[in-house]
Amino acid sequence: MTFEQARAKLSEAGQEHLLRYYDELNEEQKEKLLCQIEQLDMELPGMVEHGVAEAERGKLAPLGAVTLEEIAEKRESYEKLGIQAIQSCKIGAVLLAGGQGTRLGLEGPKGMLNIGVNKEIFLFERLIGNLMEVVEKTGAWIPLFIMTSEKNNDDTVSFFKEKNYFGYDPRYVFFFVQQMAPSVSYEGKFYMEEKYKVSTSPNGNGGWFISLVRAGLLDKVRELGVEWLNVFAVDNVLQKIADPVFVGAVLEHGCVCGAKVVAKADPHEKVGVLCLEDGKPSIVEYYEMTDEIIHSRDESGKLLYNYGVILNYLFQVDTLVKIVDQNLPLHVVEKKIPYINEDGEYVKPEQPNGYKFETLVLDMIHMMDNCLSFEVERDREFAPIKNATGVDSLESARNLMKKNGISF
Ligand code: UTP
Repeated sequence: MTFEQARAKLSEAGQEHLLRYYDELNEEQKEKLLCQIEQLDMELPGMVEHGVAEAERGKLAPLGAVTLEEIAEKRESYEKLGIQAIQSCKIGAVLLAGGQGTRLGLEGPKGMLNIGVNKEIFLFERLIGNLMEVVEKTGAWIPLFIMTSEKNNDDTVSFFKEKNYFGYDPRYVFFFVQQMAPSVSYEGKFYMEEKYKVSTSPNGNGGWFISLVRAGLLDKVRELGVEWLNVFAVDNVLQKIADPVFVGAVLEHGCVCGAKVVAKADPHEKVGVLCLEDGKPSIVEYYEMTDEIIHSRDESGKLLYNYGVILNYLFQVDTLVKIVDQNLPLHVVEKKIPYINEDGEYVKPEQPNGYKFETLVLDMIHMMDNCLSFEVERDREFAPIKNATGVDSLESARNLMKKNGISF
């Protein structure tokens, strides 16, 4: 794209400020900026112009879960089936590690966070340790695909190398980089993060499969014979990965996907609830539910919308391939966005100052014909580190590690 074309595209959208520093740039920087402007989606700022509104929900209905009691009864048969699938290399794992951990205020990859007290223990190390338990039990390596972003890929890859993959076999570890999306101010103006660069941030965890495909890794998935992918978050220190019981349950129930869920701590807990929307599985946020729905109970008094997701899903690869071209809803998320101000100075805001655009893995569930809701014990499997203090913090995660006899 030429300078004139870029100027025309921007002025039509009221975004000419992106060329403010153009004259100060060297040739390479000019080219980079023009290339980025060419790819900019000018529809995005429009999404925030009239306030941020999420799409309307369809008709909701409850979706039960395979409960802890039922799982206890069928544990052996589920586990046997799961172990067989793992031993036949049908199960792969996908670590979502492209996020920025802005709530924690981290600079580098979240997985490099040292969660230890008496010894060094990194989040990545804990996750690999958890996966190794399954490798030891089954005698089979589980292919691990790690999604990073442009912002943290180099640090993540070097860290794994430096730490010898925490004992994992590097032949079964595959990195891929997710896509980015531009960020805008509250007024819908694109931010710049350098004089030659529009500010971008990872475009949410919903793009994990398309990014894996674009990275050419679907060929690897096929070559290895992987038929199912277990997708999980980087920040849950109790995360069970490629859990044979979960895998076996999804297979036995003949579902195309499964989601680990926990019973809500109270009706108003701020979690996404797995239920049915217009007859298909769907994850609905607490703020999208009416009070009536939140409090509705069955004859025994149990909440009908009781199961919250913990970002641990099992997807059938063939089904993912079928939906890969479908668009996921775009969410507008308020964030702290570092930027270059009018005087050309770099500003790192203390408070949110605009929006970024994300698609979410949880929205993929609504594209599935069915989903096994699989209950797990919260205190045994869910200890995410999201916030600096309080709920879902390093402190709460350490308390739960202690409760589970994990030394740190
Ligand atoms: P979160 O929604 O907690 O986002 O991610 P985050 O970026 O880690 O943290 P905040 O919101 O900025 O504080 C849930 C999981 O999805 C991954 C994260 O790495 C985490 O494992 N994720 C998130 C991505 O892989 N890419 C993204 O663009 C966003």
